[in-house]
Amino acid sequence: MGIRFAGWGVGLGERIVTNDDLSATLETSDEWIRERTGIRERRIGGTASSLGLAAAQAAMVDAGVTAGDIDLVILSTTTGDRLIPGTAPTIAAALGITGGAMDLNAACSGFMYGVAAARGMIATGTQRVLLIGAENLSRWVDWDDRATAVLFGDGAGAVVIEPSEVDSVLSINLGADGSLADIIRCDHGGYIWMDGREVFRRAVRVVVESSERALREAGVTIDEIDILLAHQANLRILHAVADRLGLSHDKIVVCLDKYGNTSSASIPLAVDHARSQQLLSPGKLALMTGFGGGMTWASAVVRWS
Ligand code: ACO
Repeated sequence: MGIRFAGWGVGLGERIVTNDDLSATLETSDEWIRERTGIRERRIGGTASSLGLAAAQAAMVDAGVTAGDIDLVILSTTTGDRLIPGTAPTIAAALGITGGAMDLNAACSGFMYGVAAARGMIATGTQRVLLIGAENLSRWVDWDDRATAVLFGDGAGAVVIEPSEVDSVLSINLGADGSLADIIRCDHGGYIWMDGREVFRRAVRVVVESSERALREAGVTIDEIDILLAHQANLRILHAVADRLGLSHDKIVVCLDKYGNTSSASIPLAVDHARSQQLLSPGKLALMTGFGGGMTWASAVVRWS
């Protein structure tokens, strides 16, 4: 038994913070941020539960399902409302879902880890999974640190995942290297810190390697890929990955200009953006890939249904 994606939704804070807004309090500029990252603005506001709830409600409407249809809620987040309890049960309760509910933390790869986990649960008999990626990164950003404050945003995306005789996921692989734990980190009571250059260098390498593995295991070539749905951290990373894979830049979905880096939420936000541009019709072949803190990474080849 395989899976299909039955419906998608997003949740976004109302407050738009532009690069010029940040330049008013930080020694930075719209030009620097756009050239080094591709980011123009980001959304700030909400919590993992409020943003995740909005995304989940929209995904359930899109899928045409109600609370009783969902057996399991998986929330990918690094910024849950509290350390204890997890935030997934809070969202599930607000939706009226009484099935299982758990948080998953694989940083910016978390949404793809969630797809793999949902697919495994469905293979063992779970009927329907609500997978949410939701982040409230603004709470953990040092707004006086220009090296990180310009990068991150808040947001959420969700998908309803159902069993399907034809598996949309042609291949998926996960990876982690905990010896790199210190290159992106946020300690208890602290702020997000990262070695940007090292993350950049490592990210390109692991994304290319895991993408090539996903292509090989799916039995498809890069030329057959219609669209790249990758974690939205930096436009230069996306271009470097595409160049090394031999993928033309017009196949890269880019929404980081509007949202910044939203960690777990960035891939479903990219899916939403692609759908709004009519780029994801049935039959399209997508390469989905995430990377982030841990260090973790995950890539999949997906046939859109
Ligand atoms: N405005 C102006 N100048 C700045 C800013 C800013 N916002 N931030 C840094 N600078 C300065 C630095 O101080 C440095 O100055 P110096 O040369 O006088 O020392 C100069 O700009 C260059 O800094 P670098 O860090 O070398 O700049 P780089 O081109 O590497 O860009 C960036 C930095 C954007 C962080 C980049 O390295 C990057 O995107 N890395 C990957 C980050 C990433 O993907 N993170 C997400 C991982 S996912 C997760 O799990 C959260």
